[in-house]
Amino acid sequence: MSSEFLLFFFFIFPHSSPLHLLWLLLLTTVFGLWLTPGGLAWALSRAKSRTHPAIPGPSGLPLLGLAPAFASPLTHRILASLSKTLNATPLMAFSVGSTRLVVASSPHTAREILSSPAFADRPVKESARELLFHRAMGFAPCGDYWRGLRRVSAVHLFSPRRLAGLEGVRREIGLEMMEKIARENGEVEVRSVLHFGALKNVMRGVFGKWGDGCGVVELEGLVREGYEVLGMFNWSDHFPVLGWMDLQGVRRRSRDLGGRVGVFVGKIVEEHRVIKREDHNQCFLDVLLDLEENRLEDSDMIALLWELVFRGTDTVAILLEWILARMILHPDIQTKAQHEIDTAIGGNATVITDSDLVNLPYLQYIVKETLRMHPPGPLLSWARLAIHDTSVGQHFVPAGTTAMVNMWAIAHDEKVWAEPKKFRPERFIEEDVAIMGSDLRLAPFGSGRRVCPGKAMGLATVHLWLAQLLRTFRWSASSDYGVDLSECLKMSMEMKHPLVCKAIPRGFFN
Ligand code: HEM
Repeated sequence: MSSEFLLFFFFIFPHSSPLHLLWLLLLTTVFGLWLTPGGLAWALSRAKSRTHPAIPGPSGLPLLGLAPAFASPLTHRILASLSKTLNATPLMAFSVGSTRLVVASSPHTAREILSSPAFADRPVKESARELLFHRAMGFAPCGDYWRGLRRVSAVHLFSPRRLAGLEGVRREIGLEMMEKIARENGEVEVRSVLHFGALKNVMRGVFGKWGDGCGVVELEGLVREGYEVLGMFNWSDHFPVLGWMDLQGVRRRSRDLGGRVGVFVGKIVEEHRVIKREDHNQCFLDVLLDLEENRLEDSDMIALLWELVFRGTDTVAILLEWILARMILHPDIQTKAQHEIDTAIGGNATVITDSDLVNLPYLQYIVKETLRMHPPGPLLSWARLAIHDTSVGQHFVPAGTTAMVNMWAIAHDEKVWAEPKKFRPERFIEEDVAIMGSDLRLAPFGSGRRVCPGKAMGLATVHLWLAQLLRTFRWSASSDYGVDLSECLKMSMEMKHPLVCKAIPRGFFN
């Protein structure tokens, strides 16, 4: 092939030296590869896909591909607009350095990817490996080990019985948060309050403890640092030649943090080994220690517990912050929700319980609408990896390709949703779309075998705390800051500027 090209160049440039011609050939090849739909990483894998139509996609920058988009805090928006411009919403191919990716921005192809056994693994980035996640549920390859983790957590942490058993804790932590907000006496930065509450809540389920003296402050520091490192775009993940230099210090930081997490969680595991708890007081860790079959190594147990705390904290706090921002921007919707709560709970009732939540459909629609407009995982946070060669629609996808679903793009697509930019919980009165993964028009918890195992726990917590927050306070904008809906995609999609607002007591304390 290259000798044919060389002859071709000789024909066109008869007076050039062979060295010049070789350079020309090299340049043409690099350009040719780069101009392949999807960019360089796709060009290098084309041999196998000759018989299938190429997946449309941008070449991106030479060598870098779409790396700059991933270093940006608005990756989901950039990918959404590229998919639309290139008429590639079903599937778009692109490269980030040597990593080959596809992204689906339509419900149909999203379903194909998320439910296909071919995409049941996840790519593990360096920071995740150093932070022990490759032995936890979220990054473990789909096999017996991963299945065992899903099974044990489904029965002993996420089952309806366990969730009901933890209702009192959720309520008590919610009450503590209301008191904390009331003490601020005016303006409050809600993120830190919600984050601390969410951490305590998941700590109780996992470790059985959550009081202020239980290391919650230290754990919060570790979790925060983890979000920062894991949320960074690490150039070495996509440019292996840079790997040894660790230019951004990601390896050093995550290795150091992984060590400290091991010591912290390891100490809790030891404490639980010494003090055996009665059955009804057992937490998830006690269950793991009692397992007869599929007993976990200590390091695996630490990885699993750490991941659960990590995943269960951020998502809940971030979602509630977005909801409160929306309540401030839409006072009529806030009033309607408060009216619904007051009517369902009654004027004198002192507590809101899980059983009251079924009588608060409008509140649940507010949560759904916020998940649609501000999904905490707009790209379903942790992507999938093609385990073997497969296809999506009529397109060939080679093994080793990273597959993403742009849930943000689907939820903002006017072909899928009427007036997608409008915050309108009433749309779910007209059609109550399921959000647990069966309807890919709105699947903020993912779908298929790797769907979020904590979705019921997350929703139970958000619904109860939102009911408490709206019953206890009237929410309005801070005089200095207003409400800024700018987004910042790190591990999850956060508000770029933490929400600072006024919480005015409504005369109920429950
Ligand atoms: C509002 C709350 C939450 C949201 C929006 C959310 C969202 C997600 C999403 C989008 C995924 C990827 C699913 C996929 O690939 O199909 C996921 C996975 C996961 N989530 Fe959640 N999540 C939430 C709460 C929680 C909670 C409370 C926990 C645990 C305490 C949790 C633990 C996990 C784990 C372990 C995985 C990985 C599952 C696997 O790969 O097998 N999440 N979550």
